[in-house]
Amino acid sequence: MRLERARLPNHADAAFREEVFAGLASPQKRIPCCWLYDARGSQLFEEITRLEEYYPTRAEAEILSRHAGEIAGFCGERGLLFEYGAGSALKSEILIGAYPSLRLYLPIDIAGDMLEQTAMRIGERFPKLDIRPIIADFNQEFELPAGLPPGPRAAFFPGSTIGNLNLRESVAFLRRLRRHVDGRGNAVIGVDLKKRLMTLLNAYDDREGVTAAFNLNLLERINRELDGAFPIDRFAHEARWNAEESAVEMHLVSLDSRIVEVAGHRFRFAAGETIHTESSRKYDVAAFAGLAALGGWRVAKIWRDEKGRFAEIGLEASS
Ligand code: AVJ
Repeated sequence: MRLERARLPNHADAAFREEVFAGLASPQKRIPCCWLYDARGSQLFEEITRLEEYYPTRAEAEILSRHAGEIAGFCGERGLLFEYGAGSALKSEILIGAYPSLRLYLPIDIAGDMLEQTAMRIGERFPKLDIRPIIADFNQEFELPAGLPPGPRAAFFPGSTIGNLNLRESVAFLRRLRRHVDGRGNAVIGVDLKKRLMTLLNAYDDREGVTAAFNLNLLERINRELDGAFPIDRFAHEARWNAEESAVEMHLVSLDSRIVEVAGHRFRFAAGETIHTESSRKYDVAAFAGLAALGGWRVAKIWRDEKGRFAEIGLEASS
């Protein structure tokens, strides 16, 4: 299996340090949500997906299992499937299983080790499938390798990860997908839908405290990797609804007024002051269609779970 590297962040450590310093120095303290996913964070996220309260993973799996054949048809006969942020690719495995004519699967992920394992597993299950893993950060501009076989191209972005991107990032991302499918392929995007507030908040603040541990692990990571001195037990997890952004936000609340040192820098917290660590935007179909239009797409298909909590949205490139 050959792994291809597109633009890689050469100095991930330096980037973490810079983004933490800059984020803790800004008026609303914030740290980009990508840093939640170190080894421990990824493990905690896996646990989150199995929680009673966290419906998105199950809702999306239901949609994919039920409609995989139709979704595969939408991607195109003898097509090329590009998956952004493939991770362990459990969702694509469902899709690929219903897509016997698939000509090439191209999983893209920033984590090379995980990508290699995923490619091996998919390769064992589908020995005749051409698999071309690409190491890249899907949030940055990158080119697909030249010389891909002909055939309809489809971009797959499950998991409602698009909800983590703000307006500017999601439009740039959707335009990137459009370029990757040569301006004429399709895309299938997993989108978590707007719903009752308590259902949303509970999904990000479970009774077992797994999401709290996931959020607080960011401070532990700063302590570990950046020689930080956060007293973990004096910070609390909070999930709140931002109506203007239509997003569930995760914050870390400082319970006291204090100064925290990170690698020799001092950061002052007022009691109750927060670090914003993640936004998870929730869409209705109309709002998502508006976003898609800005990225050069129109909504062609909508597949929903039975309870109408989540949607797999099929997009066609608009001319
Ligand atoms: C992996 C981005 C889809 O936003 O629902 C879960 C991450 N954060 N619980 C989401 C997450 C807190 C998740 N995504």
